[in-house]
Amino acid sequence: MNDYNQKNILVVVSGSVAAYKSAILVRELIKFGAHVRVAMTSSAQEFITAKTLSVLSQNDVLTDLFAQQDATVLHIEWAQWADQIFVVPATANLIGKIANGIADDAVTATIMASDADKIIAPAMNDVMLNNPAVQRNIKGLEQDGWLIISPEIGFLAEGYEAKGRLPEPIEILSQTAIRLRARKAKLLNKKVIITAGGTKESIDPVRYITNRSSGKMGFALAQAAVEAGAKVTLISTQKAPQIYGVDVVYVSTAAEMYQQVQSLFVTADIFISAAAVSDYRPANEASQKIKKEGSEGLNLSLVQNVDILSEIGHSKTSNQFVVGFAAETNNLMAYAQKKLKTKQADMLIANDVSRSDVGFNSDDNAITILVPDQKPETTMLLPKIEIARLIMNRIGQTFA
Ligand SMILES: Cc1cc2nc3c(=O)[nH]c(=O)nc-3n(C[C@H](O)[C@H](O)[C@H](O)COP(=O)(O)O)c2cc1C
Repeated sequence: MNDYNQKNILVVVSGSVAAYKSAILVRELIKFGAHVRVAMTSSAQEFITAKTLSVLSQNDVLTDLFAQQDATVLHIEWAQWADQIFVVPATANLIGKIANGIADDAVTATIMASDADKIIAPAMNDVMLNNPAVQRNIKGLEQDGWLIISPEIGFLAEGYEAKGRLPEPIEILSQTAIRLRARKAKLLNKKVIITAGGTKESIDPVRYITNRSSGKMGFALAQAAVEAGAKVTLISTQKAPQIYGVDVVYVSTAAEMYQQVQSLFVTADIFISAAAVSDYRPANEASQKIKKEGSEGLNLSLVQNVDILSEIGHSKTSNQFVVGFAAETNNLMAYAQKKLKTKQADMLIANDVSRSDVGFNSDDNAITILVPDQKPETTMLLPKIEIARLIMNRIGQTFA
């Protein structure tokens, strides 16, 4: 998804050694199809020329507060033109000025006159960054609605490794896109619990019963939920990728998963049961490895596990929303409709796992979304992350 295509974006550059990275930011934005203009402080022009940024942005660069084109006062026209303002890099000085409402040059006056989405990426020496005044000003900007792109730990111009380095421009753009989308999303601050992966039911200390679930659909849902503004806890049996803003709790058995879901669901808004929970577990887990000597065959006695989706579906309050998955190899729609009712889910995602191109372990999926009293909605074959975004969107429409 490209969040910058056809957007009017003002890049503000201030006097930091990291100013050269603003040239890369401008070039990336142009590649994404954005209309870009640049405004610079006078200190910024000590580090990078207005000429470079003018060529890259395909526009004039604003440096003079009193500049006028015909009768138009430029800083006001630019302030209103911008959909988004990126202050990259931001000096301690400029942060202080903006946080305290100072507007004494082209840059600060333009920022003051604009109601665009505002993004700021501080870049400075670690001691400067830790200065209480700078920290106070950054917090103030956050409270005023600025999106702060935190500096990274890295090699500083001073010749040592510390926090203060400007992240790479592409990282700034991707963090901004995700966080702005989340801000505007319907599931803002909703608490979402997602389970992922197949459970493992122990037979003895070295063996267990499991299934073919890879956890990929649950991971994609966690990412899509974060993009939709939710606070996400992922309860997983499989190693999960690092997803910004997702807490991960690892479990192994259905019983452990249920215990975690139960305790987290008390304060949650939404539960999405994407894990493949084993229906049965061995009645008795052998305390030592079962040996084959002396027995031709082996009978395992199994007992039923708790049905997590059904338990949560029956215990939810009217302010909570429960989503289940039905992975079936035959009679998919009939089973799915029945599951939606008997488990008292608010939404059921039906998944044909007999197809080799969808479902377990695959990177793609095609699903049908069932909601009580609404027409089922079937998707085409799409990457799991796109499927997850569709599901989150539908949850947002149905629940929020
Ligand atoms: C070589 C050099 C590098 C600098 N790098 C930074 C920096 O990375 N971050 C910062 O906040 N200030 C840095 N400064 C200090 C600012 O340039 C100075 O505070 C200036 O007044 C900022 O002006 P401006 O905020 O209007 O751009 C640097 C100064 C020099 C001379």
